[in-house]
Amino acid sequence: MTDGQDPQEPKAQIEAASKAFEQEFERFARFIDVPSNQGLDLASAEAELRNLNDLRVRHLGKKSALAACKKIIGRVAAEQRATLGQLVQATEAKVLQTLDTAENKLRAYAETARLERESIDVTLPGRRPRRGHLHPITLLRQRIEDIFVALGYAIEDDREIETDFYNFDALNIPENHPARASQDTFYTTDGFALRSQTSTVQIHAMQRRGAPVRMIAPGRVFRRDTPDPTHNPMFFQVEGLCVDRGITMAHLKGTVAEFLRRMFGPNTVTRFRPSYFPFTEPSAEFDFSCFKCGGSGCRICKDSGWIELGGSGMVHPNVLRAAGVDAEVFSGFAFGLGIDRMCALMYNLDDIRLLFENDVRFLEQF
Ligand code: FA5
Repeated sequence: MTDGQDPQEPKAQIEAASKAFEQEFERFARFIDVPSNQGLDLASAEAELRNLNDLRVRHLGKKSALAACKKIIGRVAAEQRATLGQLVQATEAKVLQTLDTAENKLRAYAETARLERESIDVTLPGRRPRRGHLHPITLLRQRIEDIFVALGYAIEDDREIETDFYNFDALNIPENHPARASQDTFYTTDGFALRSQTSTVQIHAMQRRGAPVRMIAPGRVFRRDTPDPTHNPMFFQVEGLCVDRGITMAHLKGTVAEFLRRMFGPNTVTRFRPSYFPFTEPSAEFDFSCFKCGGSGCRICKDSGWIELGGSGMVHPNVLRAAGVDAEVFSGFAFGLGIDRMCALMYNLDDIRLLFENDVRFLEQF
């Protein structure tokens, strides 16, 4: 024995290293013994593989107890060296084999889990994606558009943010005019406002196309109205405009009556009541005979036999002039109606706010 070392000591160290390995390996033993995949999912199998690799580094790596034993063997007496060498080699081989076996098993588990996850059962019925459909306001808007396109009208889509000029001045509503209050809207800080009616598009259309012009403009409008069953601060309107030489009130009445007949049936009757709008002169509101009871009176028409729909009139010469159209040569009619209230009537809703609550259970019905 060189430098007075106890020959038992390296042997004991090798045995201690072997024991330490066995203790630590114990929790991996289940992967060797039991053939099933132990209910391991892919992520846990991969995590265990990483743990096993750490164990391998600790017990077979350069800084392991077995590596330290090997260094000691070089220094023991020659007659001991062979036996100890064999012992350390055998121990190392056993550790290696145990680790390899466990690793192979775990790799197989991971592979099975991966295949299970990726496999597709082509015999299973497919999952049907839930199909949406158009909002009732859109459905109604499209019906209105179809009728007017068939009558030779163009469809104009225009901006929702406007200057005072388009929202009020050009529509013959100068500053301090009382009509500004009833159509009060939402203002931004730099002179812009959300349009309070689609009549703004009359001006844009005439500026863009000149006269003659025939167009409808469906779109979103905004008002400072408190929400209730018939009011929303945001709602939809459709504007109609026809400007040409010799256009009269008769054309207006004929067009609106034909639109309502195509919308609600050939027996629909229309009536006009004198009214006031700053941008038309003369002005009239129009009603149509109730589509439910035909005019005899029911819950929908509140027993009157009539349903109020919108406003109309002959375009005021000031409006034609503001849009650059010669009021001496051309005349025109305009009308506007609210789509939300019309939609509520047709679908028998008692509150237009339902239309924008976005409750799928409500919207699914249409
Ligand atoms: C107008 O807005 C005029 N621009 C209509 C017009 C056009 C007249 C062209 C003449 C010529 P009025 O403010 O009445 O008119 O609104 C028209 C329709 O919008 C109403 O009949 C109603 O159906 C709808 N409406 C008005 N305010 C609201 C609101 N807060 N919520 C839902 N619908 C509304």
